[in-house]
Amino acid sequence: MFIPLDDRDGHIWLDGALIPWRDARLHVLTHALHMGGAVFEGMRAYGGRVFLNTPHLERLARSASLLDFHLPWTHDQLSEAIEAVLDANGLADAYIRPIAWRGTESVSIASPQARIHVAIAAWHWPTAAARGEADKGIRLHLSTWRRPRPDTAPTAAKCSGLYMIGTLARHQAMAAGCDDALLLDSDGHVAETTATNLLLVHDGRLITPTATGFLDGITKRHVMALARQRGLTVEERRVSLDTLRAADEVFTAGTSVELQPVVALLTDAGTREWPVGPVTRQLMSDFRASITAPAARVAA
Ligand SMILES: Cc1ncc(COP(=O)(O)O)c(C=O)c1O
Repeated sequence: MFIPLDDRDGHIWLDGALIPWRDARLHVLTHALHMGGAVFEGMRAYGGRVFLNTPHLERLARSASLLDFHLPWTHDQLSEAIEAVLDANGLADAYIRPIAWRGTESVSIASPQARIHVAIAAWHWPTAAARGEADKGIRLHLSTWRRPRPDTAPTAAKCSGLYMIGTLARHQAMAAGCDDALLLDSDGHVAETTATNLLLVHDGRLITPTATGFLDGITKRHVMALARQRGLTVEERRVSLDTLRAADEVFTAGTSVELQPVVALLTDAGTREWPVGPVTRQLMSDFRASITAPAARVAA
């Protein structure tokens, strides 16, 4: 049975202190709720160790500055807070969600005086691979929604406002019987899914769309490094739908789901299906191995 996220026990770190999970509430007149100006991260801990901690916390700070505010906590303070949250909740393998937002000083468009709040929650959220279901793969639906041009929104930021596009696209995909959506950019090139980056294998090369206008994923960068270690040529470039259709293998990468094979793409022009290919399998296995590797080896 699904238990709503506010109806759970445990502890959440809020503005410098661990508080009971159920008390981590906001006022309805919170600027970020009205204007969409929160920035967040999705991180994972494996065996008690936070995976790729530094790039995630650096991206959180970068996202905040793209939204014209500064985090009131340092990288080290946030790292310590994450450790405290994992300890307080008795978690070794966990999904971690730090979030920063403008508070209740105003709900006007401008709010330069707003207090910046930061919270960190963590919970048990096993991936398909951890459940032994990674081989099943996912089906993507070509969305009618597109990623905005980078000069129309802070597309490099992991900010809450941009995620309404993903919610709409994911709802469309679910209605079409798919697991997730594939979004194009405003020029019609392949961008990403609603919560992961896309990688394809073509003639033994690993290809991924250049992240101009969508999130430059930390998992994707890590996978690109793993692929190079395997001797694969890795290309970041514009990817057309035709190039995607011609790919031998396709998979997605993101913190929440790790690596997931794509087994089908549904478009108005029909369905393209892929097997779970050997390069995908190799990189999924390399990824799982890197999770338990010493920290120096996992830096992307
Ligand atoms: C829209 C979107 N794209 C890509 C990603 C993958 O990014 P990462 O690998 O840094 O988790 C995420 C997840 O954070 C995402 O939300």
